[in-house]
Amino acid sequence: MTRPTLIDRDRACVWHPYTQMLTAPPPLPIVRGEGAYLYTEDGRRLLDGISSWWVNIHGHSHPRLNAALAAQAQQLEHVMFAGCTHPPAVELAERLLAVLPPGLTRVFYSDNGSTAVEVALKLACQYWGNRGEPSRRSFIALHFAYHGDTVGAMSASEDSIFTRPFAPMLFTVHRAHAPYCYRCPLGLERATCAIECLGDLERLLTEHGDSIAGVLVEPMLQGAGGMIVWPAEFLAGARRLCDRHGVLMIADEVLTGFGRTGRMFACEHAAISPDIICLSKALTGGYLPLGATATTESVYEAFLSDDRTKTFFHGHSFTANPLACAVAIASLDLFRDAGALERVHDLEGWLRQGLAPLASLPAVGEVRVIGGVGIVELVKDKAARTAAGYLDHLGPQLARAFLDRGLLLRPLGNILYFMPPYVVTESETAWAIEQIHEVVAGLPA
Ligand SMILES: Cc1ncc(COP(=O)(O)O)c(C=O)c1O
Repeated sequence: MTRPTLIDRDRACVWHPYTQMLTAPPPLPIVRGEGAYLYTEDGRRLLDGISSWWVNIHGHSHPRLNAALAAQAQQLEHVMFAGCTHPPAVELAERLLAVLPPGLTRVFYSDNGSTAVEVALKLACQYWGNRGEPSRRSFIALHFAYHGDTVGAMSASEDSIFTRPFAPMLFTVHRAHAPYCYRCPLGLERATCAIECLGDLERLLTEHGDSIAGVLVEPMLQGAGGMIVWPAEFLAGARRLCDRHGVLMIADEVLTGFGRTGRMFACEHAAISPDIICLSKALTGGYLPLGATATTESVYEAFLSDDRTKTFFHGHSFTANPLACAVAIASLDLFRDAGALERVHDLEGWLRQGLAPLASLPAVGEVRVIGGVGIVELVKDKAARTAAGYLDHLGPQLARAFLDRGLLLRPLGNILYFMPPYVVTESETAWAIEQIHEVVAGLPA
């Protein structure tokens, strides 16, 4: 009898995320990673064009991150974080606050992007309760938002096939226009508009006034909802409106944080600071699950009281895991010593230049680039800008075509994007763009 492969064994006992286990093709058996590449059990080399779900920035199996992880494992692998502290958690908080947008002074750790958002929503809700305004407990989020898969994060996300089965569990969130310029909600053109779409956020803030706790946004790049790139003016305007209406602004930088949009944090594009920021994904360079939610001192101070009911009663077994914190510190070191952000600037240039010619292909509606993310929005009808949604067969078909060429991508339906680790080289980028160009050129007009 032949020995079962990794795929055979997987199929017998594992349940994968976002996967229809009856019909999905077998998973890729990945046994090794190095730099921008992943290697399969059967010896194939794949360029990781999706940064392993947007988390990897310095490349796989990076020697400096490996060393930090190994060194920390020799000292302390984990300890509970209520009533205890440890050097990596404290140093990471210090280091984060030194690079985060100004005004953020406190770091609350959790486990992943969804929990970082969940913590932000719970903090905002209790903040108002602690301050004697308990009626402020609703949130405004944007169309096309994606904030994660826990119940609060799903509630804040746009209604979709990802959230619909759980609708009875979700709370209502007011939804404002997003600045999706290619599909402008007001039918305007970016070249001549004055960001009139902000009016919807203003209307909701006015209508719901004292019931609003906060406004939650994915600054500059709305990811899973369609890789929508914003004009920075929208972000600046949202901050102004939050100030004017006295509500908290929560920036979900789970995807955008740590250089992905070309700035360390996307809020920098509009020179704004949120009241609360959510971080995860690239926080550990993509090594280990870790979430962080940072707040201003004034948010923090609302929880200080002799009255113990004003405590923030939230935590997880692995809060501030020392191994994850140590790798996150080493990742910040690579921004300081190894020019990680400069690499993103180079990558942005290669993407802009390389992807521009795709705009004239019949199947391409728009090409968008921000920082280290190149996006190609595919359409069925270029003039009418029509496209199918996430469940369209196009996504998996394209993914397969790229896989055959050695490029790992996972299109969001008709939204094709290339988001590699920052260590990708100019020639690797050019090669990936060539694959994308060839495959998209072969699509029926
Ligand atoms: C903007 C944003 N927020 C939150 C999340 C949830 O993060 P996680 O998958 O780590 O729970 C994601 C994940 O893609 C995201 O893109």
